[in-house]
Amino acid sequence: MATATTAIFPWRAAYSVGNPQIDEQHKGLIRMINNLQDAMMEGKGKTALSAILNDLIRYTESHFAFEEGLLQERGYSGLAVHKTEHRELTRQVYELRDKFQSGKLMITMDVMRFLKDWLANHILKCDQAYAKELRF
Ligand SMILES: [Fe+2]
Ligand SMILES: [Fe+2]
Repeated sequence: MATATTAIFPWRAAYSVGNPQIDEQHKGLIRMINNLQDAMMEGKGKTALSAILNDLIRYTESHFAFEEGLLQERGYSGLAVHKTEHRELTRQVYELRDKFQSGKLMITMDVMRFLKDWLANHILKCDQAYAKELRF
């Protein structure tokens, strides 16, 4: 497991949305991205990297469903836009996984940076927007 000093993607206080369950789920997603980087650096094979990407997809989908349920419950005004954003992020990570599995893409530092931005930008922009309105 990546340590805070070597991880490409350390947790930052600015990511917190003020809801402990969601923060834990975001930390779990961050951990998976760091695990993927570790596996890449260790030269792990396609099967191991695919397994991590598949875990990331599964966990992403369950996190998005949980978050959307909570936003709906709380009557968040930006829910429809947020759902669209989640769908696009899901599409991107499936595309990455499929390209990797079909041999069209290698897991490189550029891909790791893409995944970091993929999640961090969403948390900082879209998730922080509901945090601001809902004030957990
Ligand atoms: Fe979100
Ligand atoms: Fe989120």
